[in-house]
Amino acid sequence: MTTKDLISIHDLSIEEINEIFALAASLKASDHKPLLAGKSLAMVFEKPSTRTRVSFEVGMYQLGGNTVHLSPNAVQLGQRESIADVAGTLSRYVDGVMLRTYRHDDIVEFAKYASVPVINGLSDLLHPCQALTDIFTVKEKKNDLKQVKFAYIGDGNNVCHSLMLAAAKVGMNLTIATPRRYEPKAMIVKQALDDGKASGVEIDILNDPVIAAKDADVIYTDVWASMGQETETKARKAAFANFQVNSQLVGLAKKDVIVMHCLPAHRGLEITGEVIDGSNSVVFDQAENRLHVQKAILALLLGGK
Ligand code: CP
Ligand code: NVA
Repeated sequence: MTTKDLISIHDLSIEEINEIFALAASLKASDHKPLLAGKSLAMVFEKPSTRTRVSFEVGMYQLGGNTVHLSPNAVQLGQRESIADVAGTLSRYVDGVMLRTYRHDDIVEFAKYASVPVINGLSDLLHPCQALTDIFTVKEKKNDLKQVKFAYIGDGNNVCHSLMLAAAKVGMNLTIATPRRYEPKAMIVKQALDDGKASGVEIDILNDPVIAAKDADVIYTDVWASMGQETETKARKAAFANFQVNSQLVGLAKKDVIVMHCLPAHRGLEITGEVIDGSNSVVFDQAENRLHVQKAILALLLGGK
């Protein structure tokens, strides 16, 4: 990898994405390799996490390294001390830092002052490790990404943004259906369309879940209210009422459609229990792959492999 950090998929080349996927597949298929023996990763969390924390922690362990978990009130980025001072300090102790923050710019600023690799473990804007894992999972299930019709139904949020940027790089056609006023941010749409020129991808953004789901190979959804948007929950429930991924909607897709969700899920809201627990759902394969894909990212960024 030529990039120091993983903050946005927009910063990666298709060669780097393929390198991550190839290493992830080989790590998944083999016994644990001590590629990061003696190395440490600090993990700074401003928001809760299950999958990101555990998969990074176990991933570092399996690579022969270790992690230091910093909970929301431990660091208090920019409050207890400046982001630059935290970045400068942690860079003297550890070989890489993963951050989960509210403000995306905090991760960008941290990376500017950190001399070690910085990995975005979710911000309000992006969730690159999730989207790389998701594309890796689609590739495992469907082989040729260029033949896939991927439908994202729900909020134009951090996960949607990173999926757009990833789809644009790998050339996977993507249709997004959100309620009006919940579309992905224009700045990310522009980046994805620009990146998509090289891969020849089609990205459609609609307000109709039925059109998006029709003949889809993949249906993907995420929560209607993300972490930090709890006060909007009620208004969002009303706005997203027609965007639930249920059996009726899944019935419009191809017979062998796979249903994806980054989790945590709210059964009965964005997805029904029947669908998430049904035979088309791959949500736990997806969750497992966080481990393999992030081990590849860690090995490439922290180990110079
Ligand atoms: N999908 C995901 O990032 O899960 P967590 O919020 O539990 O880490
Ligand atoms: N969009 C969700 C993803 C959680 C992994 C959130 O930001 O809360």
